[in-house]
Amino acid sequence: PIYRIVAIPGEGIGPEVVEAAVRILQQVAKLEGFTIQVNYAWLGVTALEKFGSYFPQATIELCNGADGILFGAVTQGGLLELRKHYDFFCNLRPIRIIDSLLHKSSLRPEKVQGLDILIIRELVSGIYFGHAGRSQDETGEYGYHTMIYYDQEIRRIARQALQKAQQRRGLLTIAHKENALPHLPWTRLVQEEAREFPGVIVEPMLVDNLAMQMVINPQRFDVILAGNLFGDILSDIGGALVGSLGLLGSASLNADGFGLYEAIHGTAPDIAGQGIANPLGTLGACVLMLEQWGEMGAAQRITTAQERVLAQGYRTADLSPQGVEKLVNTETLIKLLLAE
Ligand code: NAI
Ligand code: MG
Repeated sequence: PIYRIVAIPGEGIGPEVVEAAVRILQQVAKLEGFTIQVNYAWLGVTALEKFGSYFPQATIELCNGADGILFGAVTQGGLLELRKHYDFFCNLRPIRIIDSLLHKSSLRPEKVQGLDILIIRELVSGIYFGHAGRSQDETGEYGYHTMIYYDQEIRRIARQALQKAQQRRGLLTIAHKENALPHLPWTRLVQEEAREFPGVIVEPMLVDNLAMQMVINPQRFDVILAGNLFGDILSDIGGALVGSLGLLGSASLNADGFGLYEAIHGTAPDIAGQGIANPLGTLGACVLMLEQWGEMGAAQRITTAQERVLAQGYRTADLSPQGVEKLVNTETLIKLLLAE
């Protein structure tokens, strides 16, 4: 088969981690006997400079009909529009501990041993997309962003989360804030959908408590379902649990299974241009893309290569090397990953 992907490097470390991922994807494709065609496109500031728009028509045309979009990171503009345009409502963020990085966690190793959480974040609605603006009245100037969810938007992401929980360990925790936001009844709507998913335990939890529980006792979680804002915040806790934000990848899917694949981190301006970015988050996103295509062999090759290189002690700087570990830059890590 031939797969056509669109790579959108963006800014900061975006181009560094996307280049790494493309090189590794090309190698596994060759080994597994399929072809990946890569077209490059623009979003955000680089798109504004080139086309006068954060989310240009040229990018849409390249993405239409592609088998996946591989994304780096941007500082501003375009990404929310891209997610909305293709209705990428279902954002999957696996948080899995890697054995050789147990001691890199911000928590004690016994607290994160075997950790395997899937955060499912609603991605095209909520406060990021509600009525917003600045205005003024007799009290003064003010700004507002409104958190809006149609019941049907909550129900459709709930069904995705319930299905994932059913395929996993059967526990679905809902991140909600119904004590302060009673008109967004996540608990009731998810419980109604759950009637079709026997065997799944639905556990509502106030999001502030949930954030604390992720730090105190993360092993208790299986699938966590969250709205757009809460899911954004909770998933960075995942970075601290596994040892670095740079390790986590994500898939954002629409109802047709078309997806946008990216690390959960941003442009990391503090380390951009130094060649030291950790590419494993973006690579994790590529694994999700290959799995979505059904290319399990290729996905497994990447996972195995990553585990091998980390077990050998190689670390990018975000994993703060010490003692017996070997500090490597991005380029060296790619070469190690490509070596059989
Ligand atoms: P960030 O995720 O870019 O960086 C947070 C910290 O983690 C920094 O110390 C950074 O060096 C480190 N880090 C992140 N990814 C890393 C990697 N792959 N390897 C090594 N270290 C890594 O978040 P920050 O600093 O809050 O945001 C920077 C910019 O990125 C902002 O303009 C923000 O709007 C944007 N952003 C973009 C996102 C996207 O395009 N999807 C997502 C999050 C933030
Ligand atoms: Mg974020």
